[in-house]
Amino acid sequence: MKHNTQYSLKEHNTFGIDVRCQRYFSVENEKALQNLLTDPAFTSLKESYPDFLVIGGASNILFTEDVNGIVLKISIEGVTIKEETDEYVIVRVGAGVEWHYFVEFAVAQDWGGIENLSCIPGSVGAAPIQNIGAYGVEVSRVIEAVDAYNIALNEFERFNKEECHFGYRESFFKMQGQCRYIITSVDFKLTKKHVLHLEYGAIKEELKNLNIENPTIAAVSRVVCAIRSSKLPQPKQIGNAGSFFKNPVVDSVLMERLRSKHPDVPHHVFGRDFKVPAGWLIEKAGWKGYREGDAGCHEKQALVLVNHGKATGKEILALSKKIQKDVFQKFGIQLASEVNIFLSNHQ
Ligand code: EPU
Repeated sequence: MKHNTQYSLKEHNTFGIDVRCQRYFSVENEKALQNLLTDPAFTSLKESYPDFLVIGGASNILFTEDVNGIVLKISIEGVTIKEETDEYVIVRVGAGVEWHYFVEFAVAQDWGGIENLSCIPGSVGAAPIQNIGAYGVEVSRVIEAVDAYNIALNEFERFNKEECHFGYRESFFKMQGQCRYIITSVDFKLTKKHVLHLEYGAIKEELKNLNIENPTIAAVSRVVCAIRSSKLPQPKQIGNAGSFFKNPVVDSVLMERLRSKHPDVPHHVFGRDFKVPAGWLIEKAGWKGYREGDAGCHEKQALVLVNHGKATGKEILALSKKIQKDVFQKFGIQLASEVNIFLSNHQ
């Protein structure tokens, strides 16, 4: 059982929070995962600690304290073609593959469907958990199936798309399946005859600026990366986990009240309700660019909380709570965090 003890997770979370775990394991394939989780020495080690945490790229987690126990990193690599026609390709991708590496790989093969999801930090295995989305596309659109390891039963299970129960930044794995499954690979169905999604945000405008009239998926990918890097901080430079909050969904009564006070409030229809950008609410409440020690609200995108260097997870959490409280007082809207907050189970 090769592993590290008293291991710093600073390089293993995009917020760059300096916490430790007692034991750090990494597995590189499905067999190794099963062997480890069924090894009696591992089982008794696991039972001796209160915490057991599985991570991928750790790009959507805020560590507020040390992990009193085991961290297991899923490092399963590989991209394999399972089925190919003139219209589409189905590829199986290991959970440990870096998300943007996979996007670049797909774009280079001229496989379409994920170009709008370019430059998102994190791993392939984490993508279905919160159903990553950007620029009008959610990953659920291209997911065929998810393979996962059932921790209690010690066996592999396959989930088709319906069984994943995808929603806005939601899935079975974030709800009932939380802590019960470890995603090992994801099957994607990608196009060879592409349908581009250019309606959202600045994509069209940016393509026009570059004089691109008939964009390829490679051009869309480039433009998305350019838009993202113009307003989202790079985790290697400033620690962050992307959007800290979800965009709230409000009913028509609240929407009307909001619109009467703030006619400029951006929003879009979401079923019978409306989705309002949390970034707008936070900016309007005056938090954009705010800093308290090394914990801050990003100056270009208020939805992103940042670690300017040595902030602790507790400091960032405290700032997020102040923002939530203030937004609620000013607009009557409760913001829910999109990032997972790690709290130790202690002993
Ligand atoms: N806005 C402000 N102030 C801000 C930020 C945004 O007024 O500080 C306004 C913008 O002017 C715009 C609206 O809010 O009218 C929407 O902004 P943007 O297009 O930047 O998108 P978002 O709603 O803030 C969502 C996702 C992002 C994704 C972008 C682009 C969520 C929680 N966030 O952000 O996802 O990249 O759309 O599609 O849905 C992530 O999940 O980590 C993430 C970055």
